Amino acid sequence: MKHILSLCFCLILFVFISNAQLDKKVNIIPEPSQILMSDKSIFIEQQLEINFSTNISKENDFKNYIEEYFFKNLAFKKSNSKSKQTKINFTILSTKIDSIGKEGYFLKINKEGIFIEANELGGLFYGFQTFLQILPNEIFNKNRTAKIEIPECTITDYPRFKWRGLMLDVARHFFTKDQVKQFIDNMVKYKFNLLHLHLSDDEGWRLEIKSLPKLTEIGAWRPHRVGKWHNRTNAFSYEPKTYGGFYTQEDIKELVKYAKDRFVDILPEIDVPGHSTALLAAYPFLSCSQGNIDVGIGAPFISWETYPFLVSSKDNSLNPNNPLVYEYLDKIFTEIANLFPFEYIHIGGDECIKNYWENDKGIQELMKKENLKDLEMVQSYFTRKVLKIIQSKNKKLIGWDEILDGGLDTNAAVMSWRGSKGGEKASKEHHKVVMSPSEFCYLDYYQGEKTAEPFVYAGLRLSTCYEFNPVLSTMDPNYVLGGQGNIWSENISNQRSLEYLVWPRSMALAEKLWTKTENTSWNNFTAKVENHFQRFDITQTRYSTAMYDPIITTYRDAKNNLIADIKPEVSGLKIYYSLDESIPDNYYPPYTEPVLIPADVAHLKVVAYKNGKLVSKLLVIPIEELKKRAKK
Ligand code: ACM
Repeated sequence: MKHILSLCFCLILFVFISNAQLDKKVNIIPEPSQILMSDKSIFIEQQLEINFSTNISKENDFKNYIEEYFFKNLAFKKSNSKSKQTKINFTILSTKIDSIGKEGYFLKINKEGIFIEANELGGLFYGFQTFLQILPNEIFNKNRTAKIEIPECTITDYPRFKWRGLMLDVARHFFTKDQVKQFIDNMVKYKFNLLHLHLSDDEGWRLEIKSLPKLTEIGAWRPHRVGKWHNRTNAFSYEPKTYGGFYTQEDIKELVKYAKDRFVDILPEIDVPGHSTALLAAYPFLSCSQGNIDVGIGAPFISWETYPFLVSSKDNSLNPNNPLVYEYLDKIFTEIANLFPFEYIHIGGDECIKNYWENDKGIQELMKKENLKDLEMVQSYFTRKVLKIIQSKNKKLIGWDEILDGGLDTNAAVMSWRGSKGGEKASKEHHKVVMSPSEFCYLDYYQGEKTAEPFVYAGLRLSTCYEFNPVLSTMDPNYVLGGQGNIWSENISNQRSLEYLVWPRSMALAEKLWTKTENTSWNNFTAKVENHFQRFDITQTRYSTAMYDPIITTYRDAKNNLIADIKPEVSGLKIYYSLDESIPDNYYPPYTEPVLIPADVAHLKVVAYKNGKLVSKLLVIPIEELKKRAKK
């Protein structure tokens, strides 16, 4: 009877709302596993009492983080006993609950207060991030005086994958320590837990290695260029090398601690044996050509026509037949292993250009001696030797999926980027795998109408990111650690343009990495994204509104007329267009069906409105571009 009564009580108190309907009440990204919403609210006061269960009293870093967030970032006042106050309680469960794992949590908001419970601190941290998303945007007004209303609810939540990463290329463009911290602050709001730093490439070496000082004295600097990538002029010898920078070992210690306090691991990547121009600028005798090598500048030097056998006019690969290469890598990975506590070290391995290897006598002899039948097997020989080095530092090796090509020791893990094929092969061969297929996860690609975005060689819409499924039916899920979005910085030269590319597409990846597929919904997701845009405006974080820019494709009809088909990416848009060079607005006739483009027009101009407000860019698409699209 008692049980029946309490069940009735719960039913009266809580109205269960399915995850898909929640956009009316809360806008949590990534979508939690389960939410029970009440139709009631509580009001939170300016005065706040924060209680930590006694079993976390020693964890000062966590306590400091939480207290600083409430009392500094959100300008709550510490409770004083005379005033009314809100209580927020953080509890590490003394009896562990297996179903929520290390990162899951329970969050309850009711008239007694706010309760976050978890097996471990990581779970409390994610419960706190969810709580922050439940708070209304007025919370950021530091001069607020009114009480803040939040809905009563009960949330149970835990992640689908343990590896939820973002890769930041700090080699092509150097992001300062503070910018990286800001990046971490934003990624944890969406429950990412891994920051992969791409620390070396042709265009820069970004990590102080004390035993090899030239890596940063020479490898971290290049002359400044702003022109289009792979189209830039080569460096002149008289030009000052003022563009670049690097992290000192003290910087890295600070970043590792900053990340750890936010439950983020940092995965360091040193990209070898290819992509090594910056290393070779410092130590040229480690290449086959041993020639004069300058740090890359974004001038063209790779010919892509012969892909996958890439040919370069400049040698950017380490010589796998030179014992000094392994001596130098041992020094580098010794220091890296001491700096980064994360269990993996990433050794790159992608796009290794082999035309200098092909013509090298020493490598030809090595191939005979070691019975290496092709140059992929030469790279595999190199990877095996590097694996030994990494293992000697008690670390695990991970690399881009090219490391599979000539055969790979099963102890090595694979990051699948050339589509999902690498992931499928890796899981079949029993390698641990992280999925970051470029067609869903490359956040440097343009994200809306191509003619309205900064030029990049490929595009990736928010809706396509949202189709990311890290485990295909052809894979053994036991080998899939998770996935990540990658942000290459060839075409990024400042923090604002980085943010523009990262948000909101990272929200889509975050939801796909945290939330079970059955709890994800594109329409629910985009409604939440719109709410998050408001918060980004308040926190002055940049984001792209490309999801409002209609998708324009063209085709030829039976009479060879050029026809434009215009589709919204998100629901609720009204689309207007012009063909007469004027700028359309919402008093133009709305787009309702594919439009015939007369041969003599110069541009198709398109805008989209939502609830009577212009939300898209003005898209101005030249007729030549429209014709080109029809050819495909
Ligand atoms: C890569 O995009 N080259 C890993």
